[in-house]
Amino acid sequence: MAEALSGLSKDDRSLLSAIETGMKTHEWVPSFVISELSGLPVRKVEFRLGLLFEKKLVERESMHYLGYRIDFDAYDLLALSDFVKRGKLSAFGERIGVGKESVVYEAMGDVHLAVKFHRQGRTSFKHIRRLRDHLTDKPKVPWLYAAALAARHEFAVMEKLYPKVSIPRPIACSRHALAMEFVSGPALNRITLSDPENGLNMILSEVGAARKQGIIHADLSEFNIMVDDSGPKIIDWPQAVEVTHPHAEELLERDLVNVLRFFERKYRIEMPLDKALGLVAESGG
Ligand SMILES: Nc1ncnc2c1ncn2[C@@H]1O[C@H](COP(=O)(O)OP(=O)(O)OP(=O)(O)O)[C@@H](O)[C@H]1O
Ligand SMILES: [Mg+2]
Repeated sequence: MAEALSGLSKDDRSLLSAIETGMKTHEWVPSFVISELSGLPVRKVEFRLGLLFEKKLVERESMHYLGYRIDFDAYDLLALSDFVKRGKLSAFGERIGVGKESVVYEAMGDVHLAVKFHRQGRTSFKHIRRLRDHLTDKPKVPWLYAAALAARHEFAVMEKLYPKVSIPRPIACSRHALAMEFVSGPALNRITLSDPENGLNMILSEVGAARKQGIIHADLSEFNIMVDDSGPKIIDWPQAVEVTHPHAEELLERDLVNVLRFFERKYRIEMPLDKALGLVAESGG
């Protein structure tokens, strides 16, 4: 991906972003629309798109016209080049994590970064989309919106929590991508704490601090708590809800049960849920 980023000219970027815009109204964006949106002449558009097609950055379909669309690869590049343009990112590195609904890369800006690309909507919508294509002529690119929406939500939540709650510092958001400070340390499931009781208390106090800011994580587990020199850092916030959410208390309890179960299994620390809830309420003030 890094090579593709550096090999992308200004015209290529305008073409990809014109297709991105065109996909709001077209399943396959016709070249004359791409030409209008990018301000580039049709012949140039078709020539450059041919090259981008060979690089597999655009998909092409000929129907009664030749139409184009982008997939996650090009969407990733648009987000990255936006970070570069805004001075947030200067070098792009290795993949450091893959989840059900995201992929995370290491990068450099003013600080060491983790860049999380959301992937919501890709698998879950593809077969539905194929079915629906035959039933309606409405535009259908839910993946693009689903992924961008998830990233925006995660970024907004992180901006609300940082620095009151121990989380990676949020740096920037573009489309479906979120740049944040890199955490140098493993996830909680990959280390053995020297003082697990203190570790558990620190985590509960962060859960309390988040609740005080009006936020419940709602996907908390040993996989979403990283540990560095400063202590636990909670990551992975796209599914977070506000404390006013009708299921907020249930979700909070589920978060705590996950954490308590982990500490019981791994460290034989038994803390009843009520006590944990009490500690959370206390640290929330
Ligand atoms: N700020 C960060 N610093 C270092 N590594 C990170 C950072 N953020 C994420 N990672 C790595 O990427 C992995 C995936 O990130 P995250 O948990 O946010 O998404 P996910 O688990 O894919 O989300 P989902 O629950 O939607 O599948 C983490 O387990 C971790 O290894
Ligand atoms: Mg995770």
